[in-house]
Amino acid sequence: MLISKKNQLVGLDIGSYSIKLAEIEHKKNEKLLKNIGIAYIPPNCLSPTVGIKDPDPIKKAISSLFENLKIKNKKVAVGLPCASVIAKKISLVERDDLDLEKAIKHEAEQFVPFDMEEVNLDYDIMDTIYEEGEEIGRMEIMVVAAKKGLVESYVSLLQEINLSLEVMDVDIFALQNSFELNGHEINPEKTYFLIDIGAQTINTNVIKGNVSLFVRSSVLGGIQITKRIMQEFQIGFEDAEKIKLGVTELEEEQNKRIRDIFKDVIKEWIEEIKGNIQFIDRTYPGEEVEKIFITGGCTNIIGLEELLANELGMPVEKLGSFEGLVIDKKIDPEYLKYINSQSSVAVGLALRSIGDK
Ligand SMILES: Nc1ncnc2c1ncn2[C@@H]1O[C@H](COP(=O)(O)OP(=O)(O)OP(=O)(O)O)[C@@H](O)[C@H]1O
Ligand SMILES: [Mg+2]
Repeated sequence: MLISKKNQLVGLDIGSYSIKLAEIEHKKNEKLLKNIGIAYIPPNCLSPTVGIKDPDPIKKAISSLFENLKIKNKKVAVGLPCASVIAKKISLVERDDLDLEKAIKHEAEQFVPFDMEEVNLDYDIMDTIYEEGEEIGRMEIMVVAAKKGLVESYVSLLQEINLSLEVMDVDIFALQNSFELNGHEINPEKTYFLIDIGAQTINTNVIKGNVSLFVRSSVLGGIQITKRIMQEFQIGFEDAEKIKLGVTELEEEQNKRIRDIFKDVIKEWIEEIKGNIQFIDRTYPGEEVEKIFITGGCTNIIGLEELLANELGMPVEKLGSFEGLVIDKKIDPEYLKYINSQSSVAVGLALRSIGDK
């Protein structure tokens, strides 16, 4: 679908470690990546479970991205952290819109642990399934509830730097958007895992066809490794991060300690993923997981893909962020490579447009 220029949005993935920006021009026959960038924020500015804690460094980072990349469009699409919302798939008998809203609200009351007055409720009808001979189908609906205060904190943070929040999504659903553009050979009858391994969360979206079966966020991620290094060597965050990224050279004995930390933490990640695979096996008998796609900053860890594949006994592939896009000539291919593992959510957000649900 062609999206008119005035409805195009800048995708902003506000992570707890880094903010990623993507701008895509939706042309007639192609999607052109016009701008891409990353800016880092200090730890503790944003908690994926609670939301914005210290807005100033976040505002500064976003403003500098807009300035440095000379972006004129001030309309943005933002993804709430999956860990801060409640997302659940429900199934309802097909009915008209008005009835549907009421029914969804009623269902949500059962699983949202807050007063309904306090939450913004959103939903997406993913599919309607008709049993043979039946005229009335069952609607498969993803319901998302976010606390009103959380949504407002993003709106006002962006307003304060003259940006207008036009579409609010959830990071893990934006990732699915980018995945679908990617053009991977996938079998619509099979189940796939999309896993985003970030700094403070591992988010999982289990999909079949274009439908999400299950989403989950767990408070695990790269910061676990950084914190363990801080403890082990009695150093601050920045220094630990440098060691982790291999910027600081170490003695062999110290290197061994670092390798052990990586191993320990990754073991926890594997347990989390195994748990989710088992959950799908139990909840959807017969739905075998075909493949796992991984993204997020931690997928830069050398050998992670192979390790996961061996431990989980199934194919694991890194998800590129830019496949399916035409790249503007001014973007440096080296920079694109550097940012590739972290940009899928921002790209997915930039694919959204005003009027989108
Ligand atoms: N080469 C690397 N080796 C190891 N870890 C890396 C590497 N590059 C990035 N990371 C880690 O990836 C994490 C950042 O990833 P990302 O930018 O996806 O996080 P985020 O989106 O800000 O976090 P979240 O979504 O959890 O809030 C950090 O913990 C960082 O240390
Ligand atoms: Mg992230």
